[in-house]
Amino acid sequence: MNLVLMGLPGAGKGTQAEKIVAKYNIPHISTGDMFRSAIKEGTELGIKAKSFMDKGALVPDEVTIGIVRERLSKEDCEKGFLLDGFPRTVAQAEALEYMLADLGKKIDYVINIDVDSDILMERLTGRRICKNCGATYHLVFNPPSQEGICDRCGGELYQRADDNADTVQNRLDVNIQQTKPLLNFYEEKGYLRNINGQQDINIVFTAIDELLGGLQ
Ligand code: AP5
Ligand code: ZN
Repeated sequence: MNLVLMGLPGAGKGTQAEKIVAKYNIPHISTGDMFRSAIKEGTELGIKAKSFMDKGALVPDEVTIGIVRERLSKEDCEKGFLLDGFPRTVAQAEALEYMLADLGKKIDYVINIDVDSDILMERLTGRRICKNCGATYHLVFNPPSQEGICDRCGGELYQRADDNADTVQNRLDVNIQQTKPLLNFYEEKGYLRNINGQQDINIVFTAIDELLGGLQ
């Protein structure tokens, strides 16, 4: 099961990815998460990525493509993978086609979580994440039972550095511009499947799950 999860910032990629990998037991490859852990560890990659992420800009293609190529060649991707937040440009999508061809693989589906951009500011500024296990919450749409504390592990919740209103606006502008040609690219290849992301989190998952059931 080789999957790509697409959607504007805040569409629900991370939220659905958690559920997909738990059920289908494939590795979750999020370029955003990879950059954030590199920043935390203070590596060269982290230092490079931080300046772009802080502005809500895209990290340059050559950097992003390099880390995905390395990750996809690891053994745990043999049984499949879920790419989350990559590709984000047509150049990245083309590079992915070459990488997969080299590995003798092919994308099964590109799942696009479709959400009207007007509602994304509220989703992102209200997001909170567990410091300990990474679970995602929302102050209004998916609140933890106890304020500031993760339901799953009791960890402390925090707000992502790029979830302030100014940076969110830049992220949305940049991604809206890149998305259309990317969707066309995958539509032409026949991989694209659109899922309505403006429904309850569990209903969105049911729709994805029904689609993936057909692959098994
Ligand atoms: P990344 O970490 O990928 O961030 P993003 O694309 O901006 O997406 P998010 O993680 O913010 O949103 P999401 O869709 O996962 O939403 P979530 O499920 O959390 O990238 C960060 C940065 O890294 C980029 O800006 C860029 O600089 C760099 N980068 C990463 N990949 C790159 C690439 N390929 N090329 C270049 N640069 C790259 O949900 C959001 C909120 O809404 C949560 O609070 C959630 O609880 C809530 N919610 C979710 N679903 C629903 C629902 N159905 N109803 C109501 N609320 C919901
Ligand atoms: Zn937790």
